[in-house]
Amino acid sequence: MNQKVLILDFGSQYTQLIARRVRELSVYSEIQPCNISISKIKEFNPSAIILSGGPSSVFDAGAPSVDKEVFDLNVPVLGICYGLQLIAHLLGGKVVPSTHREYGRAVVNVKGKDILFSDVPEKSNVWMSHGDRVELLPKGFHLIASTDTVTNSAIKNEKGTIYGVQFHPEVHHSDFGKNILSNFLFKVAGLKADWDMKNFIKEEITKLQRDVKGKVICGVSGGVDSTVAAVLLKKALGDENVFPVFVNNGVLRKNEAESVKQLFSSMGFKLYYYDEEKLFLDNLKGVDDPEKKRKIIGHTFIDVFYKAATTFKAQYLAQGTLYPDVIESVSFRGPSATIKSHHNVGGLPEKLNLKLVEPFRELFKDEVRAVGRELGIPEDFIMRHPFPGPGLAVRVLGDITKERLDVLRDVDDIFISMLKEYELYNNIWQAFSVLLPVKSVGVMGDNRTYENVVALRAVTSVDGMTADWYHFPHDFLAKASNRIINEVKGVNRVCYDISSKPPATIEWE
Ligand code: XMP
Repeated sequence: MNQKVLILDFGSQYTQLIARRVRELSVYSEIQPCNISISKIKEFNPSAIILSGGPSSVFDAGAPSVDKEVFDLNVPVLGICYGLQLIAHLLGGKVVPSTHREYGRAVVNVKGKDILFSDVPEKSNVWMSHGDRVELLPKGFHLIASTDTVTNSAIKNEKGTIYGVQFHPEVHHSDFGKNILSNFLFKVAGLKADWDMKNFIKEEITKLQRDVKGKVICGVSGGVDSTVAAVLLKKALGDENVFPVFVNNGVLRKNEAESVKQLFSSMGFKLYYYDEEKLFLDNLKGVDDPEKKRKIIGHTFIDVFYKAATTFKAQYLAQGTLYPDVIESVSFRGPSATIKSHHNVGGLPEKLNLKLVEPFRELFKDEVRAVGRELGIPEDFIMRHPFPGPGLAVRVLGDITKERLDVLRDVDDIFISMLKEYELYNNIWQAFSVLLPVKSVGVMGDNRTYENVVALRAVTSVDGMTADWYHFPHDFLAKASNRIINEVKGVNRVCYDISSKPPATIEWE
């Protein structure tokens, strides 16, 4: 691999998005903290450098910076937001605090016909998120685009090797952002599109072989991410070092354990199955608070992993953590990125004494799906909807019992199989059923019933951070309701959840 884009991170929430856009344009990129030494940067031998945004102001005490020599390497540089301000600040321009901070949409006006804006209309929407602005350009720089409130919205130097933009081309809301990044990579820096998921797999395998020295247990949940992670690790480190562990926690979907076992055996991999239904359900008995449920499940998982790690003499635990699961980006604050309490193991307690292996912590879900396809995992498994670590425990609202779980399993099975039958499953990010803690009156035949109410939920989303409810054809909902009430004993009412996220969340608990 010859061409590499180095993304220096100044702490922006969007840094990973820059890396993702560059990857989408088929160019390899890597994120490093902004304070790595100039010798490390030279050693990296980048073909282009992108300075990310960040929450700081160049005037802050201890504001993150970069060695000025980075501009003398004869490598094209693009500064985004804070990155632009730093270029101005370090090269003799003037940055001033704005009278008002600017967040959200703005219209950028392109001046002249610079290659950075090839195929970008004269006026287009961009996404802004900044406080300071560049008032005076450094010597040798000139203006190439403005917005109504920020004159110096895009600048370049005379040689055309250093560019800066005040807005965020990496976010979806910048209508021509991807064209601008593409112009920087291919027209300014002269790179070629030569990277894909095959390369990702090759490089990740090399890294795993270099860094992981010992036995690894992989927590396999039945979801796409952990399955793809286990298959990748098997490929990198061999069967004798990698032990996929699947825990039946008693809050799985109908036939889940069977289908995961089958998948692994169809791929020729051994799966270590721990049937811990009783342990989990005993621990969850009488608990109705969702956060307590999560904690109990997290701790019980840890106990089971501890047992597995001891059996297999493992030094590592692999997880399919994705970028949206990681709260902070790999930032100049150091490698302190923490994992959402959301996530199955909720950080790794000392007791486990295992090192974490997370090959996908910089990827988004659709990228992991692409890796899975390359690794030969069957398509219907790749396209599985996400499933939360605490499983049906957060979908049986209130008290959890085996009987209530079984009712929910049957409802959910009808709903999900109907989505597949109507070929709607792949249009939806996530669909599931929820058993409510209320009963309602109904009439069946000549008899009055007093039974459970279930809610169906189906949402569209790109990453689970925001979501909209799915607009089903009415005949689908009618048939689903009819089948559920007729076929599942104990349910006499079906509701459909029409709340978006925000303000609701995807799960009910
Ligand atoms: P919410 O409900 O926060 O869910 O809108 C966003 C995404 O995260 C999943 N989710 C979880 N995943 N452990 C997980 O591994 C959890 O505790 C958890 N809670 C929610 C949810 O299914 C959706 O995909």
